[in-house]
Amino acid sequence: MSLVVTGATGHLGRHVVASLLTKGVPADQVVALGRDEERLAGLADLGVTTRKVDYADAEALAAAFAGADRVLLISGSEVGQRLPQHQNVIDAAKAAGVTLLAYTSIPHADTSGIALAAEHAATEKAILASGLPHTFLRNSWYLENYTDQLATYAAHGVVGAAGDGRVSAATRADFAEAAAAALLLEQPKPVYELGGAAFSLKELAATVGEVLDKDVTYTDLPADELTKVLVGAGLPEQFAAVLADADLGLGRGELYVEPTDLEELLGRPATSLADALRAAL
Ligand SMILES: NC(=O)c1ccc[n+]([C@@H]2O[C@H](COP(=O)([O-])OP(=O)(O)OC[C@H]3O[C@@H](n4cnc5c(N)ncnc54)[C@H](OP(=O)(O)O)[C@@H]3O)[C@@H](O)[C@H]2O)c1
Repeated sequence: MSLVVTGATGHLGRHVVASLLTKGVPADQVVALGRDEERLAGLADLGVTTRKVDYADAEALAAAFAGADRVLLISGSEVGQRLPQHQNVIDAAKAAGVTLLAYTSIPHADTSGIALAAEHAATEKAILASGLPHTFLRNSWYLENYTDQLATYAAHGVVGAAGDGRVSAATRADFAEAAAAALLLEQPKPVYELGGAAFSLKELAATVGEVLDKDVTYTDLPADELTKVLVGAGLPEQFAAVLADADLGLGRGELYVEPTDLEELLGRPATSLADALRAAL
């Protein structure tokens, strides 16, 4: 069975390729797509087939999907460009007659009010319209969104605009292992709402404090204030506003999911926040 992973050069995609190999998929049955030549070379060293493909290049996509049985479309990182890019992937997958198109989405994509969810909802709709057998892997936030900020938390505490909302974050490695598992199931569910044990940003601050053995506070701000803080920390204004908007969605519970779907695919509980923070230290 030939399995194609798009975005394989990214953080999540590299974990997916590794998980497929760990699960015993022969390397010559895995095709890894991306643009970055250095990271493609690293993937080729694992024995998988690599193809340099831009989502804008319909011909290259068609060539990469020739003979493919199943495709994992990892959502693109160019926010605002993603729907036409994803549509090209869907069209190529349809033309190649793949038997499953898996797509990494966002929790509750069809109802979420988070601005980032709009392209995911539109992509899901396009996949449904294609008629392709599909599975939507609706990943909640990466734990790395938080664990990568340990030094900032130690210096300034945690700031956010999420109130008491809880986020079902999980590590990229866990989401990737789940994606690999879904790709290998004979008949994956059409929708998986995926996330780990949920925590509020106040609980995040408390857990960071435990791990660092110091007092770490959570400061809840209005979204426009949070945007200013993030801009002050060096983020571009548009991106800062997108993150603040996502925090409001977190506050509304839109990044909360039950841990059951992720546990079902992993066959174990997801890595906890505390363990991920300790590993990041
Ligand atoms: N759940 C979350 O917390 C969260 C956070 C951030 C992002 N995301 C979403 O999850 C996706 C995967 O996360 P990640 O951490 O692996 O992101 P990442 O490291 O930025 O990887 C993005 C991947 O998409 C590929 N890509 C982007 N634009 C492309 C294009 N025009 N044509 C072909 N390939 C393209 C990149 O290829 P090259 O690097 O080779 O160019 C890379 O392989 C992101 O793209 C984003 O949609 C989710």
